[in-house]
Amino acid sequence: MAKYLVQKSGPLKGEVGISGAKNAVLPIMAASLLANEKCTLRDVPALRDVNVLSELLQYLGADVEKIDDNIYTIYTEDIKCVEAPFDLVKRMRASFLVAGPLLARKGRAKVYMPGGCTIGARPIELHLKGFQALGAEINQNDVESYVEISCNRLKGAVIYLDFPSVGATENIMMAASLAEGTTVIENAAEEPEIVDLANFLNKMGAKVKGAGTETIKIEGVESLSGCSHGIIPDRIETGTFMVAAAITRGEILIRNAVASHVKAITAKLSECGVIIEETDEGLLVRGNVNPLISTNIKTMPYPGFPTDIQSPFMAFLTTVEGSSVVIENIFENRFMHVPELNRMGASIKVEGRSAIIYGARPLQGSKVIATDLRAGAAMVLAGLVAEGTTEISEIYHIERGYENFIEKFRKLGATILRIDE
Ligand code: UD1
Repeated sequence: MAKYLVQKSGPLKGEVGISGAKNAVLPIMAASLLANEKCTLRDVPALRDVNVLSELLQYLGADVEKIDDNIYTIYTEDIKCVEAPFDLVKRMRASFLVAGPLLARKGRAKVYMPGGCTIGARPIELHLKGFQALGAEINQNDVESYVEISCNRLKGAVIYLDFPSVGATENIMMAASLAEGTTVIENAAEEPEIVDLANFLNKMGAKVKGAGTETIKIEGVESLSGCSHGIIPDRIETGTFMVAAAITRGEILIRNAVASHVKAITAKLSECGVIIEETDEGLLVRGNVNPLISTNIKTMPYPGFPTDIQSPFMAFLTTVEGSSVVIENIFENRFMHVPELNRMGASIKVEGRSAIIYGARPLQGSKVIATDLRAGAAMVLAGLVAEGTTEISEIYHIERGYENFIEKFRKLGATILRIDE
């Protein structure tokens, strides 16, 4: 099993370029199943999750070609199989995003249940409720843990989501693009990745309006064609490097970051005393100007503070003067990093969905686990300021979602080694 060895590294300094967004590329790759022509995707990040989805698309009958490191073409002349097998879905929950396109194009999908994961139960009932409203029939086999969805042609409907689920909004948008008539999604997710998917669908000939707001309107069309599309920069990777500048008291210029996508992170880091400036070259983040102090955060659907930056931000809060409260509103079990940070010398108490962080405790390198993707990033950040060596295991989680993670950190002056055991 591979591990990272992270050394205390001093203030990180220099420039970093942001890769294409993991959470945008996955639904867009799934959406390419909707066209029977070639789609070209640029700025595709080299990630394990992208490899898993490529494998799944090929299994379903798509011709997926990697033209160079970050350019892929996907051509699905015909969908040969409508079943997403268990071993692919269990490796990546986002595999469930093929359900909408399969249903729209073939009238059937059989997808094994993504199941729970460490950060929470993550059910799919909102996706299914959406498909049902569009006229699909759902057969859930709880013993064998799969769901079969079938329809003749989907019919537009008004769908209210009880919670603005990112995945459900995306699956419904994709399915509704080839439905007969108009679909309205109320209380839709507003994340920038939803807007990127809508832009991609519209380039294919779909008629999606209102993406990025709570009401999305999709006028169904008969068919979709191929197109070329560049993936938006990853706002969670951007946030991770913003926090890296803060926790190491460094200075990092983040190139091709979209400042408007990270407003909540900017606001919270600024409250702590970090200086963030939008320059012509990128986002300049300086953690070396003021003494840094505590703040409170609450994770919320976009444009609120992103749950995916909660754990890296908490690692940072262990290093500042004062106490902070972090409330996790999106996932019910997303404090798995707390025992790991405490093992390094942090003082964090969890009560239900709240964590209280008593700041300015010196961190010590120790053996910790990357309990999920973003918790893994939090461990790396903590390791950069902890005395001695931090040994992080289960780093496959980190490599699922960050492109050239340690190479980018090393260029900024971090000492991180990847070892295979
Ligand atoms: C996406 C992101 C993930 C991010 C999350 C929240 C991708 C590939 N992943 O995940 O990185 O952390 O958004 O910003 O884009 N829920 C239900 N029923 C459903 C669907 C969701 O109760 O049918 C709940 C979930 O259990 C969770 C909350 O809604 O508590 C948010 O989930 P959702 O927005 O669907 O997240 P994902 O699309 O899975």
